[in-house]
Amino acid sequence: MPTPTAATAPQMIVRRMAFPHPVALKGQWNPARPEFSHMVNAGSLGMPFLEPWLIATMRQAKAQISDPRLLAEIDLYIGQESTHFRQHQQFNRRLADIGYRSVPEMEAVLKADYAGFAADRSFAFNLAYAEGFEAMALTIGHMLIADREYLFADGEASVGSLVLWHFVEEIEHKCATYDVFKALDGRYAWRIYGLLFAMVHIMGRTCQGYRAMLMEDGLWTSWRSRWALWRLLGRIFVRLTPRLLRILKPSYDPREVVDPAWADAWRHQHAAGDAQLGDLDMSRLAEAGPVARAA
Ligand SMILES: [Fe+2]
Ligand SMILES: [Fe+2]
Repeated sequence: MPTPTAATAPQMIVRRMAFPHPVALKGQWNPARPEFSHMVNAGSLGMPFLEPWLIATMRQAKAQISDPRLLAEIDLYIGQESTHFRQHQQFNRRLADIGYRSVPEMEAVLKADYAGFAADRSFAFNLAYAEGFEAMALTIGHMLIADREYLFADGEASVGSLVLWHFVEEIEHKCATYDVFKALDGRYAWRIYGLLFAMVHIMGRTCQGYRAMLMEDGLWTSWRSRWALWRLLGRIFVRLTPRLLRILKPSYDPREVVDPAWADAWRHQHAAGDAQLGDLDMSRLAEAGPVARAA
């Protein structure tokens, strides 16, 4: 069993994954947690716009960098983000095919947001947002993995496997934008501004998206659903807040954030040739490492 990694940057790998979404995939892919299902769906809608914009920002950064190690780190980061948004694109098309009107509506909003950042904002802003997003994504990855059984156990294997793969890789590339930000800017105030802007923007759009999908499912007016949503938000923020506060320290360095043992186990299993990590057994998430359904 791999030991937790301390104070290191894991070696990034660009992986080709397949997630066997069922023909009968539902928007509420976790019937026990409809609110969490739509929270994930709403987050997924942003990925095909956010991640290509991250890639474009890092390509711009490359033009100002000569360190070959940092250039190689950026290339692997771009490789991972490219596979992420393509998988989310496929998943989002399935959500659109189910008939959610809010999918194309939110896609139009998110497309305009990131086109606007690319066209109208400074490189310094885009770089700070990129690092802010990645710092936040690292905290979300830790939260999702720590609470994986509660959040995913009753859900569709393909969706849980997609989300957990994505965040294993977000943890794996935790240093990339940080290293670029440090090399090209490094101003504390801008790092914090980028974090706060990214959080407000992404959480705002995610809230807008899940509210629209819960409305389409007729749940937004249900007090039971609203209560479940508030409990879920409370549960998430109790787990996220201490991790988010750590980012505010001037000495913050993602290398010092110890990776979750389950994420290390996922990476080791992939390296050992386990090709079934896109189809995990959601009833065995309590185990120390991922277990494929076919295992
Ligand atoms: Fe990603
Ligand atoms: Fe990322």
